Amino acid sequence: MNFDEIIDCRGTNATKWDKMERLYGVSPDDGIAMWVADMDFHPPQAALDAVTALNERGMYTYHMDDEGYLGAISSWMHRRHGWTVDPSWISTTHGVVNGIGLCLAAFTEPGDKIVLFTPVYHAFARVIKAAGRQVVECPLALIDGVYHMDLEAYADQLDGSEKMVIFCSPHNPGGRIWTVGEQRDLARFCADRDLLLIADEIHHDLIYPGHTHTPMPVAAPEIADRLIMTTAPSKVFNIAGNHTAQVIISDHALRRKFQGALHAMSISSNIVGINMTRASYDHGDDWVDALMVYLDENRRIFSDGINAIPGLEFMPMQATYLSWVDFSDTGMAKAEFIERVQKRARIAASHGETFGLGGDSYLRFNIGTQRARIVEAVARMQDAFADLQ
Ligand SMILES: Cc1ncc(COP(=O)(O)O)c(C=O)c1O
Repeated sequence: MNFDEIIDCRGTNATKWDKMERLYGVSPDDGIAMWVADMDFHPPQAALDAVTALNERGMYTYHMDDEGYLGAISSWMHRRHGWTVDPSWISTTHGVVNGIGLCLAAFTEPGDKIVLFTPVYHAFARVIKAAGRQVVECPLALIDGVYHMDLEAYADQLDGSEKMVIFCSPHNPGGRIWTVGEQRDLARFCADRDLLLIADEIHHDLIYPGHTHTPMPVAAPEIADRLIMTTAPSKVFNIAGNHTAQVIISDHALRRKFQGALHAMSISSNIVGINMTRASYDHGDDWVDALMVYLDENRRIFSDGINAIPGLEFMPMQATYLSWVDFSDTGMAKAEFIERVQKRARIAASHGETFGLGGDSYLRFNIGTQRARIVEAVARMQDAFADLQ
């Protein structure tokens, strides 16, 4: 594994590189793509070998969620997360967001209110609105530069008619790992208000050395009858284009209802995603451990470089490769700091406003890229804001 190898994705229809000029006005010729949440690395060799084996066989049949695939997921959850997953609890969807959309279809009605703790991953609100449900934004509290859930405030804010909470754990864009205590408090909050809880743990393998993430089903097993956990190998092994994710539900009645929605849409697995998932989970431990050491150094270089610019603040990250940078102390209007990042630094970063309440003064930078690009991005940012030095 050589994470320093520059892989040129331009001209391959990779969203991150080939759509950035259209969306951000940043040319791929000399721009740096730091928006879409995939990385610029090859996946583990075992995942590539799985595709080679498929191609050598040359048969692309309909494919079951076979025992090897389900077993690889269970085994990974057990050895990496201390969570015992019965293979029968797993459903495969065309991505985590697809799984969330199916949950909306299975468990809610048009017009129902769905709670988000914002700012949060923008596709949650997009899919809720597209499904004709209502988004209820409960703002995260910023305490000492870090996000917290303010459940007391949310208890006052909610009117009791809400149906579901979508919880991002670890948190995108804040990079926070929620403690077991925080998760248990949230579980009680949901139980007291009869809310279903979807825990999106797609980032749960991207944990920096020295930190530990606890899956919601381990933190709060007592709410199994209202808990849906969803995850995927896509972020951690950089195989998002497979659109293969897992919705894991231990409660039988809840799972049956979910599978009803899955069957109503005729959703089933694809052969490439199944094989790459299995290979990654079976053989990817060392690769992930090495990746996190590499990303940790990216995190150090990028945070030091950003925090050295007066007025910019990098939110401390415990997980994910998505860094959240606050521009509010520059005193600049949003249009100006965005203009400087896109035009002067020639960097495409996700606009904070799309993440909901509280995101306005932020940009999200993806640091899942080669070290040389991180160093270059820091230099360009320092140059673009040089008058603040
Ligand atoms: C929290 C979170 N959930 C889901 C997704 C997307 O998952 P998928 O591509 O499997 O729908 C992302 C991608 O950035 C994410 O950050």
